[in-house]
Amino acid sequence: MRIVKTAAAMQKLALTWRREGRKVGFVPTMGYLHAGHVSLVTEARRRVGLKGIVVVSIYVNPTQFAPTEDLSRYPRDFAGDRRRCAEAGADVIFFPTDAGMYPGKAEGRYSTYVVEERLSQGMEGGSRPTHFRGVSTIVAKLFNLVLPDLAIFGAKDWQQAAVVRRMAIDLNFPLKVLVRPTVREKDGLAMSSRNKYLSPEDRELATVLHRAMSAAKAAVNLQPASAKALKSSTEALVNGQSSGRLDYVEFFDPETLEAVDVVKPGAQMALAVHFGKTRLIDNAAL
Ligand code: PAJ
Repeated sequence: MRIVKTAAAMQKLALTWRREGRKVGFVPTMGYLHAGHVSLVTEARRRVGLKGIVVVSIYVNPTQFAPTEDLSRYPRDFAGDRRRCAEAGADVIFFPTDAGMYPGKAEGRYSTYVVEERLSQGMEGGSRPTHFRGVSTIVAKLFNLVLPDLAIFGAKDWQQAAVVRRMAIDLNFPLKVLVRPTVREKDGLAMSSRNKYLSPEDRELATVLHRAMSAAKAAVNLQPASAKALKSSTEALVNGQSSGRLDYVEFFDPETLEAVDVVKPGAQMALAVHFGKTRLIDNAAL
C-alpha cells in the first residue's frame, strides 16, 4: 500500500491508471477509521476487482467545520488508519496537507468553492450553514485528483450522500456515486469517529438516537402519523430519556429530501442530538 501526500502526485498517479485502463474505486474520509469506513473500503475492493485500484483519502477538511466546531480536536490516528486500510485491501492512501488541498489559502488567495443550493438546505445545512459548501468543495477537488470511476459514501450521512450525488451529476463528473448502509455498534449506536468524545455515561445514553428511530418506525408501521406529532414525541424521548438535547428531527422523502407532513413507511427520518460539546447524527428509513 502506498501513501501519497501531494495533490500533484495523486493526480499524476490517477492519470497513469486511467491510461492503463484500470478501474478506480474511491472512499473519501476524515480518518480515525472504524468499521463503518472499513465497510466502504471493502465494498470498493469488491467492486473494482483485483486488477482495479482502491484509494482512501484521509483529510480533516477545515472548510466544512465552522469556527466554533471541533476541527482542532477532531480525532486522528494515522498508524491505526493505515493498518485498517491495508487490511481492507486499499492500494493507496491519499493523505494531503492543507496547503496542498487549498493552495494559497494561508496567504488569502484561495477563492473557489462549490455550492449545492437545494439539498444542502435544512437539517445539517440548517444547523451548520457553511458545512456543505466545505463538503462539496473538498469532494469535487478530491474527485479531480483521484479521478475515480466509483466513489463510495455511507448512508450514515444521508444528506451528504444526496448532496454529493447531485453535485456529481450537476458538474458532469464521469463517475458513479454509491451509498452503503450504516454500520452500528451492537446496541444500535451508529459508528462515528465522534463517539470517542462521549463520556461513558453519555455513550450509554447515546443509544437514544437509535431508540427514537425504532419508536418512530413502530408508530408509523401501525398507522401513518403527522410529522408534527412524531417530532414532539421524538423530542420528549430524546430530552427525557438521555442527557442529550435534540438539535433537529426531520421526516422526509429519501430521494428529494423534501419534508413530508404525513409520515408513512418508506419515509426517511434524520436527527441530530447534542451530548455536551459532542453532536451526533443518525437517520433511518421508517
Ligand atoms: P467521515 O465522517 O470520515 O466519513 C467518511 C465516509 O464514511 C462517509 O461517506 C460517511 O458517511 C461514512 N461513514 C461514517 N460512519 C459510517 C457508518 N457508521 N457506517 C457506514 N458509513 C459510515 O463524511 C466525511 O468524513 C467527510 O464529510 C468527507 C466526505 C470525507 C469530506 O470531507
